[in-house]
Amino acid sequence: MTTDSAPLRIAVIGSTGSLGQIVLSVARSLGDNVRVVGLAAGSNLERLGEQIREYKPTMAGFARGRWRDEVPEGVEFKSINDIVSSPEVDMAVIASVGRNSLEAAWTAIDAGKRVAIGNIDTLYIAGELLARRAKETGASIFPLDDEPIGVWQTLWGESPESVRQVTMTSTWGTVQARRLPRHGTQMPAGMETPRPARAVGRKRSIDASTLMVKATQVAVVNALYDIPLENINVLFHPQGLVRALTEFNDGSVKSALFIPDMRVPVQLSLAYPNRWANAEINRVDLLAEGRLSFEPLEHELFPCYQIAIDAARQGDTYPAVVAAANDAAIELFISQQIGFTDIPKVIDRAANAHRPQPLDDRASIIEAMDWAKTFVGGQVQD
Ligand SMILES: NC(=O)c1ccc[n+]([C@@H]2O[C@H](COP(=O)([O-])OP(=O)(O)OC[C@H]3O[C@@H](n4cnc5c(N)ncnc54)[C@H](OP(=O)(O)O)[C@@H]3O)[C@@H](O)[C@H]2O)c1
Repeated sequence: MTTDSAPLRIAVIGSTGSLGQIVLSVARSLGDNVRVVGLAAGSNLERLGEQIREYKPTMAGFARGRWRDEVPEGVEFKSINDIVSSPEVDMAVIASVGRNSLEAAWTAIDAGKRVAIGNIDTLYIAGELLARRAKETGASIFPLDDEPIGVWQTLWGESPESVRQVTMTSTWGTVQARRLPRHGTQMPAGMETPRPARAVGRKRSIDASTLMVKATQVAVVNALYDIPLENINVLFHPQGLVRALTEFNDGSVKSALFIPDMRVPVQLSLAYPNRWANAEINRVDLLAEGRLSFEPLEHELFPCYQIAIDAARQGDTYPAVVAAANDAAIELFISQQIGFTDIPKVIDRAANAHRPQPLDDRASIIEAMDWAKTFVGGQVQD
């Protein structure tokens, strides 16, 4: 594939992980339109080495471990912050997990880059602040997640004032939630795969089951696109095809449909505002799907959803505390120290005990998250 314009130069942080590898595969299928100039990982240096040999970036970085191989020709090892802010980079794709995602996203936004962020928690915790900063530096933020990027697509060329309501969908709903045991510390059968068409990590599965993912997506749409929280709605849609429906003041509705394949949101964010062809991405087939159905969610079955939305409404460091308490509660659940239905109780206690601080900088976020982790740990020891 050839292009008249210069290739988009991307740095992929977390390139060795599942999302990072998808990003690289999309970059490869986009040929001359995209050039990978930076790669960074946590500690999987073997895979990072293979990727360096294949993609030939000029910069590479890693968080842990020691590089034992010969350094491939043409690559310079740098810190992740130096990579994402380098003048050689047009777009930073943050596909890593953990707090480094916030650091890398923040640095890239400060440097005025295009920034695609896979770790949706980062945007839940600091979306408003990052969006404000992006306006100052000229950066643009792309949430690498189906439903928020679906909403973003419906908003192209529209103003937030013309939006009456945004609806996002969930493939996990009341039916599945009712099947979950009320008590017990075992991972209930079926909970590992709320979205069977895609392999998702354990935390993401649990977040999908508690609707924490949906709450964070709602908060992200609110923070990035200025849509009031009360105008964002979530419906159960078992087919998982319609991601977003945006209704405008004049009664018309725009919708975004994607097949369950992360390559679609990845390609959207890399290509924007272009519509490059990609033969590797399957098409939406409405006739094969047959029927599309939508149902309301019984919100009382999903207490985590309401806690996370309330925290987003309160702002300041509340979302950081809820996100960190959720992470800590999920770790306790996975290690069978608490039951599934204890997860919202643990998060709620942390949110209620928290004394919020203004969300000024990374330090206030990290402090709030550390506090929440310690608080949740303390609840189990007592
Ligand atoms: N996978 C998906 O389809 C998908 C879809 C939507 C959103 N997401 C979100 O995207 C994020 C990544 O998901 P994933 O499934 O790709 O996770 P994953 O497979 O566990 O990959 C995590 C990546 O982060 C890297 N990493 C860990 N610590 C790091 C550090 N300190 N500095 C730099 N990189 C570090 C890992 O490197 P090493 O392996 O080298 O240690 C790895 O490359 C998550 O927040 C997830 O919720 C994922």
